[in-house]
Amino acid sequence: MLGTAACVRALALSLALPSLVYAGLIPDLHDHAHAHPSRTIAHRAPGQDWYHPPHHPVHRLFRRDDNSTGDYPALGSPAWSAPYPTTTPDSSKLPQEWVDALNQAVQAGKIPNIPVSTQTNGGNPTYPNGYDPNGPTVCSATYKCRNPDDIWDAPEGMVGSGFDDGPTEFSPTLYTFLKNNSVKATHFMIGINILWNPAAFEQAYVDNGDDIAVHTYTHPYMTTLSNLDVLAQLGWTMQIIHNSTAGKVPRYWRPPYGDMDERVRAIALEVFGLTAIIWNQDTEDWSLTENGGTTMQAVAQNMQKWLTGAKTPGLIILEHELSAESVQAYMDAYPVMMQNGWQLKSVAEFGDDDAMRDGDLLDLFDTTSSAAPSSTSASSTSASATHSGTTSSSGPVATGGVGTSQQSSATLQWSSRSAWAASALVGAAGLFVHLA
Ligand SMILES: *[C@@H]1O[C@H](CO)[C@@H](O)[C@H](O)[C@H]1NC(C)=O
Ligand SMILES: *[C@@H]1O[C@H](CO)[C@@H](O)[C@H](O)[C@H]1NC(C)=O
Ligand SMILES: *[C@@H]1O[C@H](CO)[C@@H](O)[C@H](O)[C@H]1NC(C)=O
Repeated sequence: MLGTAACVRALALSLALPSLVYAGLIPDLHDHAHAHPSRTIAHRAPGQDWYHPPHHPVHRLFRRDDNSTGDYPALGSPAWSAPYPTTTPDSSKLPQEWVDALNQAVQAGKIPNIPVSTQTNGGNPTYPNGYDPNGPTVCSATYKCRNPDDIWDAPEGMVGSGFDDGPTEFSPTLYTFLKNNSVKATHFMIGINILWNPAAFEQAYVDNGDDIAVHTYTHPYMTTLSNLDVLAQLGWTMQIIHNSTAGKVPRYWRPPYGDMDERVRAIALEVFGLTAIIWNQDTEDWSLTENGGTTMQAVAQNMQKWLTGAKTPGLIILEHELSAESVQAYMDAYPVMMQNGWQLKSVAEFGDDDAMRDGDLLDLFDTTSSAAPSSTSASSTSASATHSGTTSSSGPVATGGVGTSQQSSATLQWSSRSAWAASALVGAAGLFVHLA
């Protein structure tokens, strides 16, 4: 059945490891801010922080037709759904613009050449000897290594509102609750779930005016994937969001299981301008429907503890819109947030105010501006010559054997239209541990 053994994470391991910030690599944020003249776009109305401003160069990768009237196919229509993968995206059939941008980033030395991780029997992804997951070369978020480019904490006194894995059949109740209580949230959406649940997507985006972020296309462990497969997982999710929001390009993503290392982090930031939002408390609410998983009572107790505790740092709590139970757990915790004087904000509002934050994307595009992309950025051009070039130039990052079966399982699993989503994701190993 599912490759679930490989998905079970060593909770104790990651929780036991101390948070690690490698201070030596913290950039001078002040200087960085002044390097970008567009920083004056700092003050935006609420709800506009989650996407890049229209002149951000990442739009070159998701450009509309040159003479677009701005009309996109209606959400949920056959014309809307036709272009998207219905399974794990095939990285040999990617829009050429994405592959070119990855190649440019690799050639410019922007993508660390570290090995793809491997994962067996439910452990954390691991690296070959000599690659410390907590060191600055790998800096794996699975091991709680924090890169200062990531967002892990909320400002003092604030709870970040954010939910993973939507849109699902359980999302509408959550969205109605959020709207009833005037809570704005960020939804870290799975691309294929948008494809299967366009009406719920519309409720989040149109009715609630909520923020949309990227949670990959089929929810793999990203560090186990080749550069091109990372590109496919992020790119297709951004594309379906772009074409479902009249052309907006999201700024934030959350790696499934929190699994991200320097290589994956760099592809997200340098190629797609995506900043990662992780979390500093975990309800484990994903497991409410599992045999041996957490319970409503345990989630409530944790919430009580965190919400009556210190206000610094503020809380980014990992929560899901994956089941009726996980939605209920949030609705139960909401009054506790209010009673304890927390201010709620959509987590996408916790980023820095540098609207042009983009790694070195600008520089890359500036030096290659003569090579204008074709007008139809979304065409599914197969480019095998370029792909092999990318694979070889990106060093020892060939996809291991782990990825394939795991990914195709994930496709079934995250198709919430299928029975899989409702049937509690129990796999061969008994417990499907899903952290993000
Ligand atoms: C778009 O296409 C229409 C019809 O072909 C044409 O009249 C118009 O000038 C075009 N607009 C732009 C901005 O190219
Ligand atoms: C996105 O929408 C644009 C504008 O309608 C269209 O040209 C393009 O084919 C769409 N791409 C995908 C992948 O749907
Ligand atoms: C939202 O508010 C309406 C009107 O007060 C109420 O009927 C409904 O039960 C509420 N739904 C949720 C999920 O809070």
